[in-house]
Amino acid sequence: MAFNYSFADRLSNAGTDSPFAVGIEVAALERQGHKVTKMHIGQPDFPTPENVKEAAIKAIHENKTGYTTSNGIFELRQTVVEELKKRYGVDVDPDGVVITPGTKPMLFMAAFALLNPGDEAIVPNPGYGAYHSSVYLAGAKPVSLPIVEEKKFSFDHEALKSAVNSKTKLLMLNTPANPTGGVLTRDDLKVVRDLTLENQQMMVLSDEIYARIVYDGKHESIYSFPEIQDQVIYADGWGKAYSMTGWRMGFGAMPVEVAKKVSSVAINTYSGVVNFNQYACIEAYKGPQAAVDTMLKEFDARRKLIVGLLNEIDGVSCVMPKGAFYAFPNVKEICKRTGKNSQQLQHWLLHEHDLAILHGTAFGSLGEGYLRFSYAASQNDIRAGVEKMKKAFASV
Ligand SMILES: Cc1ncc(COP(=O)(O)O)c(C=O)c1O
Repeated sequence: MAFNYSFADRLSNAGTDSPFAVGIEVAALERQGHKVTKMHIGQPDFPTPENVKEAAIKAIHENKTGYTTSNGIFELRQTVVEELKKRYGVDVDPDGVVITPGTKPMLFMAAFALLNPGDEAIVPNPGYGAYHSSVYLAGAKPVSLPIVEEKKFSFDHEALKSAVNSKTKLLMLNTPANPTGGVLTRDDLKVVRDLTLENQQMMVLSDEIYARIVYDGKHESIYSFPEIQDQVIYADGWGKAYSMTGWRMGFGAMPVEVAKKVSSVAINTYSGVVNFNQYACIEAYKGPQAAVDTMLKEFDARRKLIVGLLNEIDGVSCVMPKGAFYAFPNVKEICKRTGKNSQQLQHWLLHEHDLAILHGTAFGSLGEGYLRFSYAASQNDIRAGVEKMKKAFASV
């Protein structure tokens, strides 16, 4: 007889992070001989730069293999401080920097450190699933901030203002954004700044993991407004910009008082990040940046290719993304024609047409009628993937 397991209620509203769930389905199809075109996961298809790999190997040979302080080694935290000064002109205390095992844990740790049951946290919808999950897991209530295509996938200023109330403890932002590729403008950020100053109970968590992947113009950050720095947690990581997703390295920069609480979550869960990986991250920021530039150029070419091809499909329209490596085509017309919602479209495209992408609702209810393509895939895969979708849609 099967054991009757009893599980914690808190996990009932946690997401499954769709790229990983779809990855399991893809692996099963491949074992059956299917040639699946994989555009479901946001992972650069480039190797980690050689100088970065060498720095980790050197650190291993130097026996940098024991525990480190839970918030990360001082040299890396200082390197992050210098990087943030260079990017945004801000002065951050190295004790306000916490190095984390990937950027995702930083989101959870912020939610755990700041939220109580009854508190509200505003999260983008559609938006990266971990925002919603981390708020739920902390026992608080996520409140949707609609991200709208008509605003080039930014938010409506009035909608943000009306979402904030005295219970709002956290506002989560993401620019450039997953899944839409949208970016926040300086005007959007000024609205956030003013609202943050008016609401002294509210912190802003700005996830800028795609800060280095911006195509048109300059990356704008809430961190460049020093007047609200004591209400901001800036989150970033090495995974996307340096093709280091599997190294699991991220960080948060925040007021020292907040960093102490966040570090306490680290101390009580994973103790600290991999020692020698931290030396690789120092090299990533301090060493040559040519590999980042090469990737960005290639992503830009792929961006133009995929958006051009998607817009050639009858019933599909796709806004040109301004950052990250995702295209988020509107397929509402196809949903109407086929009678399928975007989740059913995703399932159909994977199981009957060997194309792995994600449905917009994997990122929140307002993603209905959209699909997400990751173009961190080769140009050949982009051509093959969009062709599969074109044929599938033409058949209905
Ligand atoms: C917006 C956003 N934040 C955070 C993450 C997680 O990054 P990491 O792999 O460093 O945990 C991702 C990964 O796709 C992401 O898209």
